[in-house]
Amino acid sequence: MKSTCAYAHTNIALIKYWGKLPGHLNLPATGSLSLTLENFGTQTALSFIDAPQDVFVLNNQQQIGEPLLRVQLFLDIVRALSKNDQHCLVDSRNDVPTRSGLASSASGFAALSLAANQLFSLNLNPIDLSQLARVGSGSAARSIFGEFVYMHPGSPVDKTGGYAEPLTTDPSLDVRLIVVQCASTPKKISSRAGMMHTSATSPYYSSWIATHAQDLEEATRAAMQGDFKTLGELTEHSTLKMHASMLAAKPAFWYFEPLTITVMNRVKALRDDGAHCYFTMDAGPHVKVLCQAQQAQAITNELRKIEGIVQIDIAKPGPGAKLI
Ligand code: DP6
Repeated sequence: MKSTCAYAHTNIALIKYWGKLPGHLNLPATGSLSLTLENFGTQTALSFIDAPQDVFVLNNQQQIGEPLLRVQLFLDIVRALSKNDQHCLVDSRNDVPTRSGLASSASGFAALSLAANQLFSLNLNPIDLSQLARVGSGSAARSIFGEFVYMHPGSPVDKTGGYAEPLTTDPSLDVRLIVVQCASTPKKISSRAGMMHTSATSPYYSSWIATHAQDLEEATRAAMQGDFKTLGELTEHSTLKMHASMLAAKPAFWYFEPLTITVMNRVKALRDDGAHCYFTMDAGPHVKVLCQAQQAQAITNELRKIEGIVQIDIAKPGPGAKLI
């Protein structure tokens, strides 16, 4: 049985992607800037099987419904590209909680893309691989690459763009992301459903789109120039603006838990006391705190004092997806 195996790390966006262009290509309405993390990721073994349809096993559990459908639709694209119609067994293991807002779909579809590139002999270059991963999940396009990653928005005119590329940043940044897990239950609203509902009903969505490119440009410049303060301030601004667009949706929804707010307040208080740290939250209750290596342990020690935290880890920037 021909098979292949790949590992991809998760990534967390500092400047967020939230919203899609119309169509089936999963093109993001905004660009993004992210950090691939060393600590967490997905390992995926992919093999051809003689079966009437694809089989998707995640953490030893055979998947049905929406998760299976997403993988099957993705593999349909791979089959069309390769003109090879064989079905597959996708056997994945997440070392990050699944569907919790810790970017398991990013590492999942990045690992699957790389494994499929090999198994179906697609011979895609990294940029094309990033575009393939994006069709599975927008954030997955970024996990093809390591460390800081810049992702282009999709073009509404000719449907191009929507791919990521590595960004060379000033080494003095030396960032860490403290991942503060604030709950252990899966999120109730997927990021996909959340962004569709926001774009359809929130009056703030148009402002989010209209002001996004400038945030992305300034944050990217700050990262390249080693301006940590500007990067941190824009990181908080982007996440708060994204979550504000959800609060203005009809009906409103939010991913925050009480602990999320407690951690945000503590980060702000630590900053008022002179620490250099900035929060970001995704489609889940967890808080990720951007800081620099020399302060990471001290900030973590302070955050650890908050009652109720499920887990806290200091994540270093990590590498891009690899065949194993
Ligand atoms: C809030 O990549 O999970 O984490 O493309 O529908 O799979 P799909 O969405 P997904 O959305 C990520 C949203 C976010 C922000 C970000 O990672 O940029």
